[in-house]
Amino acid sequence: MPAAARLPSALDKGLEGVVASQSSVCYVFGEEGRLIYRGYDIKDLAEHSTFEETSYLLLNGDLPTTAQLKEFTAQIKAAQKIDRITLKVIKEAPRSADPMSALRTAVSASVFGDPDAADHSREAEYRKAVRLIAQLPTILATIHRLRTDQRPLAPRRGLTLAANFLYMLFGQVPSREAERAFDVALILHADHELNASTFAARVIAATLGDVHGSVTGAIGALAGTLHGGANTAVMKMLLEVRTPDRAESWIRDALAHKKKIMGFGHRVYRTEDPRATELRSMASQVAAAAGQSHWAEMQRTMEDVMRREKGLYANVDFYSATLYYAMGIPLELYTPIFALGRVSGWCAHVLEQHADNRLIRPRAEYVGPMDRKWVSVRKRG
Ligand SMILES: CC(C)(COP(=O)(O)OP(=O)(O)OC[C@H]1O[C@@H](n2cnc3c(N)ncnc32)[C@H](O)[C@@H]1OP(=O)(O)O)[C@@H](O)C(=O)NCCC(=O)NCCS
Repeated sequence: MPAAARLPSALDKGLEGVVASQSSVCYVFGEEGRLIYRGYDIKDLAEHSTFEETSYLLLNGDLPTTAQLKEFTAQIKAAQKIDRITLKVIKEAPRSADPMSALRTAVSASVFGDPDAADHSREAEYRKAVRLIAQLPTILATIHRLRTDQRPLAPRRGLTLAANFLYMLFGQVPSREAERAFDVALILHADHELNASTFAARVIAATLGDVHGSVTGAIGALAGTLHGGANTAVMKMLLEVRTPDRAESWIRDALAHKKKIMGFGHRVYRTEDPRATELRSMASQVAAAAGQSHWAEMQRTMEDVMRREKGLYANVDFYSATLYYAMGIPLELYTPIFALGRVSGWCAHVLEQHADNRLIRPRAEYVGPMDRKWVSVRKRG
């Protein structure tokens, strides 16, 4: 038998359609455009829940009782401040550093100040997960303040995670509307089944790597423009298009040049991403209040053209971009903000992986040369 015949052959490129794990955290119904966390439709969670409550749901499997939510919220509040070493690492980052790289590095460093760093029990990993959910907003706001020559602000008592992030970013307690819009955005980003960054987190967790290592790897995976990085790319595109009357020709021209249009398409959804549906109305309200109604008009035109020309629909990043822009958030923070929400999903998946673990170690279809004969370096020319 020739050697090649014994080698495993390829499945679908990009693991499309491959079921790589069982999970009870989250499910994407691609044909219907529906998304559930622990059995709850995200539309219900976006309407009724808070990011803290949704994080509890993802980590623990059920919605909390009043007492459980109170305790969980208290744990979050107690963990929001960042430690001395993490602050030092953020301060050492060059001003030019991409905030996503600074976030990844600071999250990795935050294990040094974690009291459970050496404990890998389930209880300790859970506590570390809660601390990461609590600290990512503080880390990101600190990164932003320092790179813009402003004094970092400590988290303020009595504020939710969403309100605290906006407070630490802008130095002002946000309006109820801004807080709610940001809270809903965090809920909508909190999990998405086996997306690339969550899969990366689970691969790391399956080696029995810890929560900090898994989340650090996940942030690396989230950064690219085919994943979380698309939200910043969407806003750059909209700023380049400038006015609604240019939207159709801009898209047609880009498609004619075989360019990918950021904020469109999805590996699993065959219809509209339900998170885009939720964010569309919120983004247009916030943008209208900020005197920026033109984004909604421009985006509607782009959606129509993309549906007609390519059969593609908007995804989560298409409308989170204009929501954040209308809130006055700098472009380079959009992708790290995605991580502030997704961290609760990553942690839930890490805990789930640890609870019923097997090393994730697939095979490659080998397509390289075979049976080559060694030639000494002197004879290679
Ligand atoms: C999300 C994404 C990576 C999914 O990719 P995928 O499942 O691997 O699909 P492919 O990239 O193989 O695309 C399949 C086809 O649709 C086209 N397509 C997919 N997304 C497209 C987009 N945003 N703009 C233009 N064409 C797109 C591809 O060109 C390809 O066409 P072809 O078969 O004629 O070559 C892809 O849709 C994309 O790159 N979107 C833009 C980035 C983005 O918004 N990412 C955030 C996702 S939440």
